[in-house]
Amino acid sequence: MNASPPFSPSDRASALLDRRLVFVTGKGGTGKSTVAAALGDLCASMGKRTLLVEVDARGNLTDFFEHARVGFAPEEIRPDLYCMTMNTEDSLEEYLTIFLKMGRVSRLSILSRVFDFIANAAPGVKEILTIGKIAYEATLMEGTAPKWDTIIVDAAPTGRIVGQLDAPAAINELFEVGMVREQTDWMREILADPLITALAIVATPEEMPVTESIELYEMTKRLDVRLQTVFVNRVLPELFTTGEEETFEHLREPAPSRYLEDEVKGSIEPVFEAARLAVRLRRSRVEHIRRLKASIPVPTLYIPYLFVRDHGQRSTHLVAEAIREEMGL
Ligand SMILES: Nc1ncnc2c1ncn2[C@@H]1O[C@H](COP(=O)(O)OP(=O)(O)O)[C@@H](O)[C@H]1O
Ligand SMILES: [Mg+2]
Repeated sequence: MNASPPFSPSDRASALLDRRLVFVTGKGGTGKSTVAAALGDLCASMGKRTLLVEVDARGNLTDFFEHARVGFAPEEIRPDLYCMTMNTEDSLEEYLTIFLKMGRVSRLSILSRVFDFIANAAPGVKEILTIGKIAYEATLMEGTAPKWDTIIVDAAPTGRIVGQLDAPAAINELFEVGMVREQTDWMREILADPLITALAIVATPEEMPVTESIELYEMTKRLDVRLQTVFVNRVLPELFTTGEEETFEHLREPAPSRYLEDEVKGSIEPVFEAARLAVRLRRSRVEHIRRLKASIPVPTLYIPYLFVRDHGQRSTHLVAEAIREEMGL
């Protein structure tokens, strides 16, 4: 059930950055990690104390900052930017220490014997330990202020994000009262508070990523977490304005193209073909963007296709700047 109010069209594009907890999802390969890293870069550069959470133990989030991998304990990889990698076993151990006040010795012996069994046998266990840890970080205080201004999660891809975000609600249904219920209750409160938590989807302007995004949007209607923003990544630049296109078509006519071929002493047809292909590609993508916007009523932010060879710190920063501009900041 969705406890949050419906999306209001007056939501500013930059409202996403007002949330303390942002989950970033998307079809694999569309740029989920790129956008999560760029959002982390942007928030930290705005002076927000930012935690980036890599949910996939085999993920590559720190590569976007050209930094070595990090573990479960948040590590400051740049001023104001901390990064951690989720590990459900560490999450359980921390949980037992903090909430059940178990000593280390008893903990370890229990853990090593039962963890794998439980985590693999019961559905939702890994998800609840992941969401629980992230929600816990969102509750931490330092003095009177929250420890983190922003937590950006490179979350599960579209196919698995619902299971991840819905874990507290699903487990909640199994227990009417008691400790487990209390635990999932506070997690749900955080996830369902639209002023604290938001979901962002990354899509590319192509058939499948757009279709998956629309399907996910429909499913989020019954989740605690509200969809706040859609990022359209790898948007091709517009090659020609309408006026320029007329000039281009004129150049393709026999007389001007003969003149050009005489000038360059070779065939220019391949160049024309390449330009036409680029225009056609962009046009077909515009259709996908139109479908996306018509189906999902939240702010849509565009990120250009970056024609760079390496995707390290510099391109992360370029994407961050593109997002900043799109947000009107
Ligand atoms: N705007 C962009 N322009 C060009 N390449 C991009 C862009 N965004 C992402 N990429 C590249 O696409 C690939 C997939 O991006 P990544 O963020 O790892 O996707 P995901 O986390 O969704 O699997 C990477 O090689 C990344 O550098
Ligand atoms: Mg990734």
